[in-house]
Amino acid sequence: MSEKISVMISEADVDKRIAEVAKQISEDFAGEELHLITILKGGVFFSCELAKRITLPVSLDFMSVSSYGDATKSSGVVKIVKDLDEPIKGKNVLVVEDIVDSGRTLTYLLEYLKARNPKSLTLCTMLDKPSRRVKPVDVKYTAFEIEDKFVVGYGLDYAQKYRNLPYIGCVELDG
Ligand code: IMP
Ligand code: MG
Repeated sequence: MSEKISVMISEADVDKRIAEVAKQISEDFAGEELHLITILKGGVFFSCELAKRITLPVSLDFMSVSSYGDATKSSGVVKIVKDLDEPIKGKNVLVVEDIVDSGRTLTYLLEYLKARNPKSLTLCTMLDKPSRRVKPVDVKYTAFEIEDKFVVGYGLDYAQKYRNLPYIGCVELDG
């Protein structure tokens, strides 16, 4: 089986929108410092472009989580593969995700992070598929809402491929 990728959101459109989100975040947190927690691996491309455009002092940390369950459905039970390097107590934490789908991963992560007493805890995602939501999540910053299609590129993978595409593509299976 092979797959074809068609462009859903062009590189120029993604970049333009990331600049808008970064501007909004910079305004909302004016006078504060921000601690970005990027969820590996998918959030990395978005996070770099976002961080470069935020005009506040920014520090970075990373978490890697894996969801128990099959490849297409997350179970909500999340295993922490890589934990934070730095404490988050008293910090303005901005969690940066690639995509919110069922919401199970973020629901788990939020509880986990909240227990570490940050000053504030805010979510930012590149993509949101609201029609797929099982667990409600309060996402403050969304670059794009999309319909229920499997997407790749700009960090997102299909079987670990296509993360490096500079645009957001839609996967069409054939063969
Ligand atoms: P959920 O919100 O717990 O269901 O899981 C979100 C995670 O599922 C994301 O961080 C992605 O790793 C993965 N995911 C969901 N939808 C897609 C997609 O369309 N393409 C690639 N990965 C996806
Ligand atoms: Mg992810």
